[in-house]
Amino acid sequence: MKIDILTLFPGMFEGFLNESIIARARKKNHVQINVHDIRAYSKDPHKKVDDYGYGGGKGMVLMPQPIFDAVEDLKTEESKVLLMTPQGEPYKQEKAYDLSKEKHLIIICGHYEGFDERIRSLADMEVSIGDYVLTGGELASMVITDSIVRLLDGVIAKDSHIQDSFHENLLDYPVYTKPEDFRGMKVPAVLLSGHHKNINEWRYEEQRKRTKLRRPDLLEKR
Ligand code: ADE
Repeated sequence: MKIDILTLFPGMFEGFLNESIIARARKKNHVQINVHDIRAYSKDPHKKVDDYGYGGGKGMVLMPQPIFDAVEDLKTEESKVLLMTPQGEPYKQEKAYDLSKEKHLIIICGHYEGFDERIRSLADMEVSIGDYVLTGGELASMVITDSIVRLLDGVIAKDSHIQDSFHENLLDYPVYTKPEDFRGMKVPAVLLSGHHKNINEWRYEEQRKRTKLRRPDLLEKR
């Protein structure tokens, strides 16, 4: 898979791209991620990318020209264009599974007080990562990229997705490691029993209990 990210702040992506699982996935060629500076596409002599909004009001508005040129430069028939905005469709694990099957994603990060409304016409999908407003779409694009890359073949062990929270609308079960007794808090005996059927039953029951208590809305979707 290839992911092209359009941003005014490429520096924000350095840690994200060069650490942990994303760095390893890139190195092993499971994904190619390119970060593009929107400013580089500006045709303005001063590389201007935003201006005052028509009709007045607060703040600067991202201009359409650099974003249109960037998308037109990168887009092929296989591309899907995502626009990060708090007004977008709420992002869910299910969407991560869908997007992980795409060949090429172009992700546009909005910034400042907003972007020119005409930029919306470039997007196949507008995405929000939650009901709060970030300073820009960069963190949202990293959240989405991370959630997709970990699902690509070979990036992490396959059965770890099956155990993920939200898989089949259930939260994950509790896990423990050494020691068996930490400050009087004991590992449940069934996990030490070596009895796999009982362990699986216990885990499934814990998933249901936990989901009912914390996210009853998910159980309704099952
Ligand atoms: N840009 C600013 N806030 C955002 C959000 N919640 N989701 C996606 N993009 C954003």
